[in-house]
Amino acid sequence: MNREEAKVRIEVLSQELEMHNYKYYVLSEPSISDFEFDKKLEELIALETEFPEFLSSESPSQRVGGTVTKDFPTVKHKYPMMSLSNSYSKEEMQEFMARITKAIEREVEYVCELKFDGVAIGIRYVDGKMTQAITRGDGVQGDEITANIRTIRSLPLQAKGSGYPNEFEVRGEVYFPRENFDRLNREREEIGEPLYANPRNTASGTLKSQDSAVVAARGLDCFLYAGLADERIADTHYDSLLKLKEWGFKVSEHMRLCKSAEEVFAYLEKWDTERFNLGFEIDGVVIKVNSLDDQDELGFTAKSPRWAIAYKFAAEQAVTRLNEVTYQVGRTGAITPVANLEPVLLAGTTVKRASLHNADQIAKLDLHIGDMVQVEKGGEIIPKIVGVDLSQRQADFPVVEFIHNCPECGTELERKEGEAQHFCPNELGCPPQIKGKMEHFIGRKAMDVDGLGAETVQQFYEAGLVENVADLYELTYEQVVALDRMADKSATNLLAGLEASKQVPFPRVLFAIGIRYVGETVAKKLAKHFKNIDALMAASQEELVAVDEIGDRIAESVLHFFADERNRTIIQRLKDHGLQFEIEEAEGPVSNALEGKTFVVSGVFSQFSRDEIKAEVERHGGKNVSSISKNTDYVLAGDKMGPSKLKKAEDLGIPIISEEDFVGMISA
Ligand code: IVH
Repeated sequence: MNREEAKVRIEVLSQELEMHNYKYYVLSEPSISDFEFDKKLEELIALETEFPEFLSSESPSQRVGGTVTKDFPTVKHKYPMMSLSNSYSKEEMQEFMARITKAIEREVEYVCELKFDGVAIGIRYVDGKMTQAITRGDGVQGDEITANIRTIRSLPLQAKGSGYPNEFEVRGEVYFPRENFDRLNREREEIGEPLYANPRNTASGTLKSQDSAVVAARGLDCFLYAGLADERIADTHYDSLLKLKEWGFKVSEHMRLCKSAEEVFAYLEKWDTERFNLGFEIDGVVIKVNSLDDQDELGFTAKSPRWAIAYKFAAEQAVTRLNEVTYQVGRTGAITPVANLEPVLLAGTTVKRASLHNADQIAKLDLHIGDMVQVEKGGEIIPKIVGVDLSQRQADFPVVEFIHNCPECGTELERKEGEAQHFCPNELGCPPQIKGKMEHFIGRKAMDVDGLGAETVQQFYEAGLVENVADLYELTYEQVVALDRMADKSATNLLAGLEASKQVPFPRVLFAIGIRYVGETVAKKLAKHFKNIDALMAASQEELVAVDEIGDRIAESVLHFFADERNRTIIQRLKDHGLQFEIEEAEGPVSNALEGKTFVVSGVFSQFSRDEIKAEVERHGGKNVSSISKNTDYVLAGDKMGPSKLKKAEDLGIPIISEEDFVGMISA
């Protein structure tokens, strides 16, 4: 492809991908499969790599992140970012509307919106292009986090349509969609990382991530609720939001224009209960005067506009007695304190337990057994204790002291510097850790053993049949069938499932053995890099951190795991049973069909990505080079190969082969 063609193709692909982004993330109307989207994105990235002069900052390829920011510069807001005054009751809302009517001397229209519970952001656009995104900070100045904000796929990098001011700013709230937040926590659970408590704080932490690829992977989203420019965008707030919508911004479909106090109250009531059915958290609703002339007349106080108010939902709270604190031990040995409460009704369910997170939390609350505590259900799924009624504390209530030894195995607990959580270090001897490790091992994303579930593993363990994952492969039919509720057929299936699991590829086996912090993705990276378990076990700290995305913490955890003789023994036994401990590509060339032949690979292929087809060349003994010369044996041409390359190949008389020809060559 020549420069001119590349330029056009890059433009076409960019527009197409942004349109698909818009349809999927703003309109919720998917218009292309993920697979096709990824293929187009790959093609775009390949072209931009070949022709970097056409890479623009508005390219959809920029959303995958990868920019690393050490410090976020402090930047002054062009328009100060104020906050809203809050109200907590219908009476206060009534007073707010009465004040407005009095000042304006007539009834006014209001726009009601949801109050998204996230992080406020101001995003500047110049000539329709996103140029700068700033957090609220103290309202006068905030942190510039543009690289991270660009990864939010619903936010246009280039405004759509026309008629927008040369310079404008949109204001909105970055939030963590519940689904993505839950997924993140599930992934963390799998690798034994402490769970995040709530979506808002996690969104806020994520936005301060130094690596924008991390932000991109987490799937934050953003609703816009204001547009600002030196000239008005429209005469009313409602119309200005409609304009933002036209320009491609995500404005909530739940905003309403209300013509009376009754309509406003109906909106409040509706969302007080409906809020639990949204895919994101809200902590109230916002009521704004619609006419911008009226807004100007009302003006501001020192902190907030007089033309708007937030109505905050009461966090559902209850008061009950703390009976006991117990401690749970997770698969990775993490200790979680749990408050056992006198059962109490809260937000429609009976609550008996509340999470206490860690030792610091207990100390901060200064909890005593017998205390009357306030329990709250906020964004968190598990209720939490937010306060203690000290007036009801009696002198003989014992203070809650965090345990020093594991409640399950008695081992002395450890707490690493800088970490909030205590751990039981007895990884291979502590019952919940042993059982947890085995449950993780057989899980769907790990060995996926057909016919074997967590309950059966428990049974095996309690019957003294298994103590580690290697023991599973030594179970006999007689042992299995002797278990309670185990019939002949299920026993046979279970053993067949274990047998079949011996074919599970190395990256999944590596994930399955349960090294702390080695999740699915990290396991894939390590497997790909080291090719087999022996190389991984022999790797030093330096060699480990040299792998893409492997940091000190993961490296240390890997070293720690393999330093334990008992783990080495288990791995040796699994190897002896025939589990996969190397990746197939590591076996060297699969054939020498292409021995001594030099290939130039160009264009887009249907069965392979470009990297994959190059790997195929090597697997069959061939060699890849990047440019065509008289020494090239074949030009392997996919779709959309550039005409200049084509011409060069023709001039030099080098055979040009298709993907099909190539597949024919390697399967011959
Ligand atoms: S309007 C002049 N509308 O609530 C203030 N704010 O203190 C203009 N928020 O962190 C704010 N949803 O980011 C407005 N629909 C909405 C909102 C909203 C959430 C946040 C805002 C700020 C806080 C207001």
